Amino acid sequence: MTEQRAQFSSMKEGTAADWSIIGSHFMDYAAGLPDRVLTHLKLLDGDYGGFPVDRLQHSLQTATRAHQAGESESYVVMALLHDIGDTLGSYNHPEIAAAILKPFVDEKLHWISEQHGIFQGYYFFHHLGMNRDMREAFRGHEHFEDTARFCELYDQSAFDPAYENAPLDFFEPMVRRVFARPLNTLYKAVAQPA
Ligand SMILES: [Fe+2]
Ligand SMILES: [Fe+2]
Repeated sequence: MTEQRAQFSSMKEGTAADWSIIGSHFMDYAAGLPDRVLTHLKLLDGDYGGFPVDRLQHSLQTATRAHQAGESESYVVMALLHDIGDTLGSYNHPEIAAAILKPFVDEKLHWISEQHGIFQGYYFFHHLGMNRDMREAFRGHEHFEDTARFCELYDQSAFDPAYENAPLDFFEPMVRRVFARPLNTLYKAVAQPA
């Protein structure tokens, strides 16, 4: 069976029928998002960058620590994915994770993921001749303490080669559940038909 395709060659010519076809494909494609995210996360496997653990181990360790401390499922998924942008956002990795998570988590978790790089810098910027207190620019922000806490408890502490983190399989169902429900998207009407 030939796949149905829209008939336009420029969007100006598009019709509701065209967009009905496109809309019907969107749901299938969106349903594959957790798989694409997990596949991309696995690219961090074996990528040490000089650290004592590779970036996938670090991600799993961060998520395991958050889970064992009793954080919410959304929080644990944020912890798992917080460095997923290292591959494509080598100079701004937190923004990549934040953008991927944004439709699926609340504003606080989004902010933590987006700003964690500056807060994590408290633990090493001074070793690179940088200002470790850059996070102070956010002092007083409603999510300052939560972001500092994320880095202190789960992120800066997740470089232990001897730590027995849970495997990625353990977190997969959590990723699927969190990514099943967009809370915050321009396309909400399409993404969640009544
Ligand atoms: Fe990071
Ligand atoms: Fe990290």
